[in-house]
Amino acid sequence: MSQPVSPQHKLRLGVLGSGSGTNCQALLDACAQPGFPAEIVVIISDVENAKILDRARQAGIEALYLAPGKFRTKLEPDVEQRYVAALRERGVELVCLAGFMRVLKDDFLKAFPSRVINIHPALLPAFPGLQSWKQALDYGAKVAGCTVHFVDAGVDSGPIIVQAAVPVLDSDTAQTLHARVQIEEHRIYPEAVRLIAESRLVIEGRRVLRRE
Ligand code: GAR
Repeated sequence: MSQPVSPQHKLRLGVLGSGSGTNCQALLDACAQPGFPAEIVVIISDVENAKILDRARQAGIEALYLAPGKFRTKLEPDVEQRYVAALRERGVELVCLAGFMRVLKDDFLKAFPSRVINIHPALLPAFPGLQSWKQALDYGAKVAGCTVHFVDAGVDSGPIIVQAAVPVLDSDTAQTLHARVQIEEHRIYPEAVRLIAESRLVIEGRRVLRRE
């Protein structure tokens, strides 16, 4: 995993997001804490007016809009290379997807091997894909939650780093359940980044093990 060059070295994060960016905000807040072992160096969005870019500007961090091209669920190959170049130019060591609503292809993943993580609003492997909290509610699950995982070539299928569960209440709507899930997302995403930055994870096949 990551190898801090010195105790002072902070892992350089690049955050990609398409929307409101509350998970990015949780990372920004964590990085602002003294002693947190990571810093965000750039926030990139495929949506020009996404709130996540405002959060970047407000925090004094570079906000970059990179137009996604003609596809709806992925980036055009040359655009994907532009994302890779932008991240590399800024010395990004870990890419954090925070509500980035496009699938990243092999070329991107090869540029950052085991260095792309994602926050997903369900207890994977249940409910991959879109609006997973709503999938859980509609299915009748009694427990929902969220997962931070390494990104592989599949959809929401990479090795799991941290998970948290929340109850599904009889009174829940999709909105109230998502709000409860997001409270846990905002807690476990910084936790996962810290574990990586402190080189405390070992990937063995599908299992991500913690070492003390
Ligand atoms: C979060 O709930 C995140 O887990 C989800 O989108 C939301 C983004 O919220 N991501 C996915 O569904 C990815 N498959 P945010 O912009 O406020 O962080």
